[in-house]
Amino acid sequence: MDLKGKTVLITGANGGIGGALVNAVLDKGAAKVYAAARTITGVMTLSNRKSDRVVPLRLDITHPASVASAHEICQDVDVLINNAGVNRCTGLLEPTGMTGAEEEMKANFFGTLAMCRAFAPVLASRGGVLVNVCSILGLVNLPANGTYSASKAAVHSLIQGVRGELALRGVRVVGVYPGPVDTRMTAGQDLPKAAAELVAAEIMAGLENGNEDIFPDPMSQEVHGQLVKNAKGVEKAFAASIPAASCAAAADDGAEDPRPAASAQGA
Ligand SMILES: NC(=O)c1ccc[n+]([C@@H]2O[C@H](COP(=O)([O-])OP(=O)(O)OC[C@H]3O[C@@H](n4cnc5c(N)ncnc54)[C@H](OP(=O)(O)O)[C@@H]3O)[C@@H](O)[C@H]2O)c1
Repeated sequence: MDLKGKTVLITGANGGIGGALVNAVLDKGAAKVYAAARTITGVMTLSNRKSDRVVPLRLDITHPASVASAHEICQDVDVLINNAGVNRCTGLLEPTGMTGAEEEMKANFFGTLAMCRAFAPVLASRGGVLVNVCSILGLVNLPANGTYSASKAAVHSLIQGVRGELALRGVRVVGVYPGPVDTRMTAGQDLPKAAAELVAAEIMAGLENGNEDIFPDPMSQEVHGQLVKNAKGVEKAFAASIPAASCAAAADDGAEDPRPAASAQGA
């Protein structure tokens, strides 16, 4: 899809990947970008660009009234990018595992599903595109981020399901599966991470090329390649890669721990 002249809605636009996506779609000539965030001030500072094409939108994807309000305001959306997400960095069996799982499912799965349901008619009326930002951890569980991985696996299944339903209505559905990215989600971790700008650029390229699934960084491309060849081997490598407890330090900032992906390269 050529974004020139299109209207794009991006959730989590005050985050690392979301902010980079706002700039990327502006560079591609989008006519209007709804930069959606729970706090509007964050959108204005992080989009890092003064443009009358940016329309800040207050949106919490876990609140039905907030989603309904966004739907009422944004009737001209050609491309919806469901990017908002959280990572509580909890193992499934850790003491905080149940709480972490609930919070991640609420935002990552139910919030994304609510946005898909609200905007499907708008996208269908405009021959639009739906983009959902998942994670490479949606394709293989990392025990240190076990609850997050499970929520992103649910997002992966959601992507497949809505793709089937929306194909009949002329809407293309794109899944994005990043590896570790240098954002607030991975703050303080001295490990290989892709730049958010690279991820945004790869998403733009995937949209232009008509790709259904986008692996936007070297780590995700490597892990996906291994998954295609030997899914069980990758599963075993991830399972053995790191004890859940060693992720506890990262739980304070909700970071996605990228370490096991490195070991999976040898899977
Ligand atoms: N960073 C990585 O290594 C990585 C890897 C794979 C996939 N991803 C995915 O990429 C997406 C963007 O993450 P990021 O790395 O850019 O992290 P980030 O900088 O922490 O951004 C996450 C964004 O999601 C927003 N958000 C969270 N809950 C929300 C809700 N209920 N309603 C609306 N917005 C909400 C946050 O808003 P607040 O500022 O209000 O909290 C923030 O803007 C997420 O879906 C994440 O799972 C990230």
